[in-house]
Amino acid sequence: MKKIFIIANWKSNKTIKEADAWFLSIQDSGLRIENVNKEIIICPSFTLLSEGGLKVKSQELRFKIGAQNISQYEEGAYTGEVSGRQIKELAEFAVIGHSERRDNFAETDKIVGKKIDQAFKYELIPIICISNIEQVKNLKSKISNGKIIIAYEPLFAIGSGSPDTPENADRMCQEIKSILGEVPALYGGSVNKDNIKNFTKMLNIDGALVGKASLDPLEFLGIINNA
Ligand code: PGA
Repeated sequence: MKKIFIIANWKSNKTIKEADAWFLSIQDSGLRIENVNKEIIICPSFTLLSEGGLKVKSQELRFKIGAQNISQYEEGAYTGEVSGRQIKELAEFAVIGHSERRDNFAETDKIVGKKIDQAFKYELIPIICISNIEQVKNLKSKISNGKIIIAYEPLFAIGSGSPDTPENADRMCQEIKSILGEVPALYGGSVNKDNIKNFTKMLNIDGALVGKASLDPLEFLGIINNA
């Protein structure tokens, strides 16, 4: 049975108080992830990494914590940046190259590559977002020696309420694997509890990167249960 990854990308949402309320709802639900083949990763803002880790520990949740970004630079005079070495204290994963960062913060494939180097250097598992096959080809030389997760997120599907078709997403994930080898390949873009299974049942799709629907704890629980 394949392993399913469900990754919550909270984006620039939630205060500490709101994050606490989210974790409390998860606790109240009595969630038990019996199926060891599901890996749940919560990626909150930097300001919530510490709190998220504490909640996961105190509530004995089988969740892991990831950052939504990582600096391309080593530590030093880079005001406002958060380095891999710093993130490593609080998280096991780092989302890299999300299209919102590529578009809004001018992140090129070259910058994405430097961030992947930093993630590997500090033993963070990169969750690399791509929206087309060219971006996958550019990764090929980068990722030969480390564990990675790839998330295929077509631009039209992100936050639009109009996901890609499972067939097309499956084809993309198959192509990702044919280029990069046997890596976990996820789909992202308007995933919710009602459509998650349509994706995870496909042969080449190993889970989902979930934005908006991960902000509501009950909807997110529905995604975990239905995946
Ligand atoms: P969405 O976002 O689930 O809100 O479409 C997905 C993402 O951007 O990772």
